Amino acid sequence: MRIDILTIHPGLLEGPFSESIIKRAQAKGCVEIVIHNIRDYAQNKHKQVDDYAFGGGAGMVMGIEAIDILIEKLKKERQYDEIIYTAPDGEQYHQKMANYFSTLENIIILCGHYKGIDQRIRDHLITREISIGDYVLTGGELAAAVLVDSVVRLLPGAMSDETSALTDSYQDNLLSPPVYTRPAEYKGWKVPDILLSGNTKEIEQWKLDQSFERTQRLRPDLLTDIKNE
Ligand code: ADE
Repeated sequence: MRIDILTIHPGLLEGPFSESIIKRAQAKGCVEIVIHNIRDYAQNKHKQVDDYAFGGGAGMVMGIEAIDILIEKLKKERQYDEIIYTAPDGEQYHQKMANYFSTLENIIILCGHYKGIDQRIRDHLITREISIGDYVLTGGELAAAVLVDSVVRLLPGAMSDETSALTDSYQDNLLSPPVYTRPAEYKGWKVPDILLSGNTKEIEQWKLDQSFERTQRLRPDLLTDIKNE
């Protein structure tokens, strides 16, 4: 899979992709992540990519030209399955979208700008608009990093334990059960006896019960979603 990320703050994206699973997935060739600085495609001598909003209003708006030139250049090199724009007024992101994106060959992610981008970019170039939650970030970079992280970990070979992505919270609309490791007791804080019992069948049932209990308590909306599917 190839992911092209278009941003005016490339530095914000360097950290998340140079550590841990995402770093290894790139080294293993599961994914190619290419970060482009939109400013490099500005046609004016000050490399300015935003301008005042028509009709007034506070804040600058990111203009069409540099983004269009960059997207056109990329589209000439390969076919893109989705061109995603990250913004707080997009569709709410969830696990099933991550699953779908992980099946694609090439995607572009355009990182949003704090006061928005010219609507014509959204109308003519973007195929999906995604919000990672009902709160406002200073820009779409961190949202793009969340998207990439959630997609790349699903790619074949990205995780050392192939089954673990499938048992995640949300893959079956249930939160994960609690997990424990050694020591079995610390400061009098004990691991539940059942996990030390060796009774595999009962342990599996306990994990499922814990998942339901946690989901009911913390995210009852997920259980309603199951019924509605
Ligand atoms: N840009 C600013 N806030 C955002 C959000 N919640 N999701 C995606 N992109 C954003």
